[in-house]
Amino acid sequence: MRRVITYGTFDLLHYGHISLLQRAKALGDYLVVALSTDEFNWEEKRKKCYFGYEKRKALLEAIRYVDLVIPEENWEQKRTDMHEYHIDVFVMGDDWEGKFDFLRAEGVKVRYLPRTPEISSTQIRRDLGKQVG
Ligand code: CTP
Repeated sequence: MRRVITYGTFDLLHYGHISLLQRAKALGDYLVVALSTDEFNWEEKRKKCYFGYEKRKALLEAIRYVDLVIPEENWEQKRTDMHEYHIDVFVMGDDWEGKFDFLRAEGVKVRYLPRTPEISSTQIRRDLGKQVG
């Protein structure tokens, strides 16, 4: 069984996220999503989510490509996650190109997948903000 992992916030779930998850799952048989907690988002990225962690988790768990959702609580856990979850392939969108190559030393393949153009949680928030305002 080939196990794949990806990390992210997945707020205001959109078709760019679904495409990333679909392509990630196609690289193996079992997909783990490490979902950024609200605290990690705020303290490390200054991002405030529209949907809280439990709601984002429930949305991800309802997606057929996702087998397991675990919390992402800090930057350091990636190395240990690779072993704890017996990961073969680490996947991120190509906005992170090169940033996690160091995980190859843990014995995993590192793959960056092309982002879907013109959509992001930030963009949705901005566009809806404009319409309401
Ligand atoms: N992603 C993607 N295509 C998009 C948006 C996101 O492939 N158009 C991927 C990212 O590269 C990442 C995963 O989906 O691997 C989760 O991304 P996340 O940062 O949660 O989503 P964004 O929509 O980019 O959110 P934000 O605008 O807050 O950065």
